[in-house]
Amino acid sequence: MNNAPIGVFDSGLGGLTAVRELRNVLPNENIVYFGDTGRVPYGTRSNETIRKYASQDTKFLLKHNVKLIIAACGTVSSVAVNLKRDLPVPYTGVVSPTCFAAVRATKNKKIGVIGTSATINSHSYRDMIAEFDSSVEVIEQDCPLFVPLVENGFIDKDDDVVRLVIERYMNGIKEAGVDTVILGCTHYPIIKDAISSVMGEGVTLIDSGKETAIYAAKILKEQGILSDNSEKGDCEFYVSDTPDGFENVAGVFLGENVSHKVEQIDIDKF
Ligand code: DGL
Repeated sequence: MNNAPIGVFDSGLGGLTAVRELRNVLPNENIVYFGDTGRVPYGTRSNETIRKYASQDTKFLLKHNVKLIIAACGTVSSVAVNLKRDLPVPYTGVVSPTCFAAVRATKNKKIGVIGTSATINSHSYRDMIAEFDSSVEVIEQDCPLFVPLVENGFIDKDDDVVRLVIERYMNGIKEAGVDTVILGCTHYPIIKDAISSVMGEGVTLIDSGKETAIYAAKILKEQGILSDNSEKGDCEFYVSDTPDGFENVAGVFLGENVSHKVEQIDIDKF
C-alpha cells in the first residue's frame, strides 16, 4: 500500500480527460496534476523542445513525491520515449495502453490514428500497433486545428465550424473504411461526440486518457502500491500560466466542478 499521489502531466488541460477517468477507476487515489498552460501547445514544437519540457514536468511532479507518473499527453508519449528510463518511479505514457485497446476493438483490422503533428510524424501509434498485430492496416492523420478548437470552446457537434474542420481531417480515414479510430491526443475526447457524428455509427473511438487510466490502475495493483485511503482522493492542480479561469475550463475537461487547489508555478526552475 502507498498513499502517495499519482502525478499526471500534459501540455495544458487535455490531460484532465485522463484525470477524469482516473477518478472513475481509482476514486480513492490522490492526484497531483501539472498542466503546462504557459507553453501549450507542444504538438507543433521540435522533438528536442518537447523532450526538454517533459523532463522539467516530471521533475516538478517528483518534488511532490508521486508514486507513479502518467504523461497524459500523446505528444510527450510519442516523442519523449526515453523519459521512463530516467525516472525513479513507475511511468506510463498513453501510446501503449491505447494501441492495446484499439487492436482488441478492431474487427476489420483497419485502424485510424489522429493526433498532433509531432505525434503523427513520430509514427508512435502505428509502430506500437504493429508490435501488437502486424496485420493491422493503420491510417494516420494529424489534426493541428483540433487543439485550438477545443481550447477555444468550439466543442459542440452541431456547430458548423466544428463539423467542417472534423470532416476536412477525417475524410481520408473515413474513406479508408476503418472500424476503429484512436483519439491519440488527450484533448480529443472533448470533441468525441462531434468526431463520432462525422465518422458514423459502427466506428469505435478509443480514448487515450481512458485506456491509460485503466492501465495505471493495473500498474499500481501489480506493484502493490494502491492507496488504502477509504475516502475520495484529493486533487491538486498546478499550471505554468495564470490560474484565472482555470476552474471553468478545467470543469469541462474533468466533467466535475473544480473546487480544488490551483496554483501557478515557475516550470523553468525545474
Ligand atoms: N494534449 C496534448 C496531446 O495529447 C496535445 C496538445 C498540444 O499540442 O500540446 O498530444
